[in-house]
Order: sequence, then C-alpha cells, then structure tokens
Amino acid sequence: MGRHPVVPDPAGRRHGRRLRAVRRRPALAGGPRPHPALRERYGRAAHPARAPRRGPARDRPDPRGHGRGRLPLRLRLRLAEGAPHVSPFRLTRTLPEDATDAALRADVLTGLTSTPKSLPPKWFYDARGSELFEEITALPEYYPTRAEREILAGRAGEIAAATGARTLVELGSGSSEKTRHLLDALTGLAAYVPVDVSVSALTGAGEAIAAERPDLHVHALLADFTDGLALPDTPGPRLVAFLGGTIGNLLPAERAAFLTSVRALLSSGDALLLGTDLVKDERVLVRAYDDAAGVTAAFDKNVLAVINRELGADFAPAAFDHVAVWDAEREWIEMRLRARTAQTVKIQALDLAVEFAAGEELRTEVSAKFRREGVRAELSAAGLDLTHWWTDGEGRFALSLSRVR
Ligand code: SAH
Ligand code: AVI
Repeated sequence: MGRHPVVPDPAGRRHGRRLRAVRRRPALAGGPRPHPALRERYGRAAHPARAPRRGPARDRPDPRGHGRGRLPLRLRLRLAEGAPHVSPFRLTRTLPEDATDAALRADVLTGLTSTPKSLPPKWFYDARGSELFEEITALPEYYPTRAEREILAGRAGEIAAATGARTLVELGSGSSEKTRHLLDALTGLAAYVPVDVSVSALTGAGEAIAAERPDLHVHALLADFTDGLALPDTPGPRLVAFLGGTIGNLLPAERAAFLTSVRALLSSGDALLLGTDLVKDERVLVRAYDDAAGVTAAFDKNVLAVINRELGADFAPAAFDHVAVWDAEREWIEMRLRARTAQTVKIQALDLAVEFAAGEELRTEVSAKFRREGVRAELSAAGLDLTHWWTDGEGRFALSLSRVR
C-alpha cells in the first residue's frame, strides 16, 4: 500500500531511492465528503479522488472516448478503433483532497488576515486558470514561452546527449507542450512523470502523450511540488525538468527549500533542467504581465473565483483591478488585485469577514527574474553544480542544466 508500481528497467538498473509512503486517499465512497465546492471544482469524472489508481479505465482505451475531447482527431480515431499500442496512463493523487481543502483554507486565512494581504499563486490553477494560462502563453506580450520553446527546440539534442535520461520528471508540467521537444530527443526514455496541481492540465496532457507514445510509461502525479514530493521508482538516469520560469513564482526562501528538496530526489548521474526568465527592461516585463487583451487580468482574478467556489466567499471580481508592478530591488514582478472601493468580503467556510480599504492591494503572485550568477549561486547552495546555460537569441530567457555535486 502506498507504493507506486515499478516500471521495468530492461538494463536492470533501478533508482536507489524508494518512494516514501505516498498518502493515498481511500475510494471516495468510504471517506469524508469533500467540501461541496471542491466537488464542483474538479467536476464528477475528473475529480482526482475518483481518478482510478490502476483501474482499467485509464490503462486501456475507453471505447466511449470520454475525456478525450482534447486529443487530436487522428488519435481519437485511433482510440475509437481500439488501437492496440496505447501506452498505460496512470494518475496518482499524492495528497488527499481534504488536505488540499485544508491547505486552501489555511492559505486564505493566513493571507487575507495579514498586512499586506497576499495569496500563494498555486491557487490560480483550477481548470479555468490552466486554460487562461495557456491563453497567456500565446499573447504577443508574453515572450517567456516562445523564448523557452526556441531554446528547447535548438538544444533538446544536447540535453539528451548530456543527460541520457531514461526518466523525465516534469514539475508544474501544465500542458506539457514544450516538453515534447525533450520527449522526442530523449531516445532512451522509458518513463515520463508529469507533476502538477491542476488535474485538468495533467489529464489532458498525460492522456495525449500516452496515446502518442506507446513506448513510454506515463505516470502523472497530482501533487504539490513544494510539499515533500516522492517519485515513482523508474529507471535512471533521471532528468527533472522545471520549465516556464515557474521557479520565479516561489519566494527566495521557498526557492531555497524547494531546490534542496529537488536535490534530495536526485542521485549521481541525474540532472535538473531549469527554466528561468531573465532580468530585462521594465516596460517589457510589465507589458508581459498586463497585456492589452486583459487575459492576465482574468487569470489574476481567477483566484477570487476559486475562493468563491471552494470556500463559499463573495468576492466580486469586477470590484478589483489587476495591477503588475516591477520591484527593481528584488527583481521581481508582482501581480496584485487592487480594491476599487472600500468593501467587505465574506468567506463562509472560514466564518470570516475581510475588510478591504479603497485602493488596498492583495498580492497574488511574484514572478522573479534572474541573472546567471544568481541562478548558479542558488543551485550551488542546494548542492547542485551548473553545467550548461543556454539562452534564446534575444537573451530573454535561460535554460540551465545542473547536477548533483
Ligand atoms: N510548465 C508549463 C506550465 C507553467 S504554468 C509551461 O512552462 O508552460 C505553472 C504550472 O505549475 C501550472 O500548470 C500549475 O498548475 C503548476 N503549479 C503551480 N504551483 C504548483 C505547485 N505548488 N505544485 C505543483 N504544480 C504547481
Ligand atoms: C507560471 N509562471 C511562470 C507564470 C509567470 O510568468 O510567472 C505565471 C504567470 N503569471 C502571469 N502571467 C503568467
């Protein structure tokens, strides 16, 4: 109980570390009922607690084609025909849903009763938040995704040669779209382990990749990568990828703890591939986080919709303005929601009334921007040595490879 399945390693090599006991919630029927809002959040079929752990539904094609709306038509047809070579896709929930509910309550209580008010950015990403993030990646102002894709497209072969990875673990994998460059280049790859808190993103991407790559074991983990992550026992060497600049969404102390925990997942011969957005002209940065079409504003306000739904709150998103500010000293962008008028927000599940003064700001995200020496120093402090540093042609974004010292 609590052990992930073992992916067979033809070379006989197995990763030294065993997965720590993964907390798994028993089938929903017998366990505590989730907050009604949580049920709505995930939807019936997609609720992680209902995600089969080894159920046939995810291990073989579903003849009804449920949940496959996001797959390309070509693959949907193959699945409908009962294509025999669809690799298994498994989704493991590593945190009980009541723990997720408790974490949201704790974060909202702490964040909205502090001065200044703040919330951790991981709560943006329900199904709508993940969709909005994908829209952001296509905006003309939002350069990081295009810049990182350019680097991956050009360097995936070098990354494959340098790492020889047989397992690719991806933290905060989202749509896994750019990852396809790595999946294609890593010729000896046996397992792909996407890790995310967004069940919709994880399922959409994981199922599509499993369908396209019958040779690959796709084992998705619905997990918080800052919270004692444990990995399945898959063949080494491992490459842990953390793309998109998502590390910049952690505060400096959180980053240090996170990198130390990633280091603990790696053995000699494993590597970390890290995407970091770079310090640049303030106007370019602010535009990237306050686009003309208002998609980032909608993404920012989505956290209010999440709290309304999950905790029975009555935030009026229209009563807040989205603001993006460059903090030149700390070299990060802050996204904030500014109250247009004085108002009181009630949060039923917490039995809490939160006062906002007119103009008061709630910080919803930091997005730190980096310099090479800073990245090297932060990796080094966690016991990782930077071995490669690649940037896009315009020097906007960097990918680095590092190894256990
Ligand atoms: N890597 C993708 C997605 C980046 S968006 C890209 O580069 O485009 C950030 C992703 O990280 C989202 O999918 C979000 O759900 C996930 N995420 C944010 N905080 C997380 C956390 N604490 N644990 C796990 N996943 C998290
Ligand atoms: C996921 N992360 C790297 C994004 C960023 O750029 O910090 C999240 C985001 N926030 C606003 N736009 C995009």
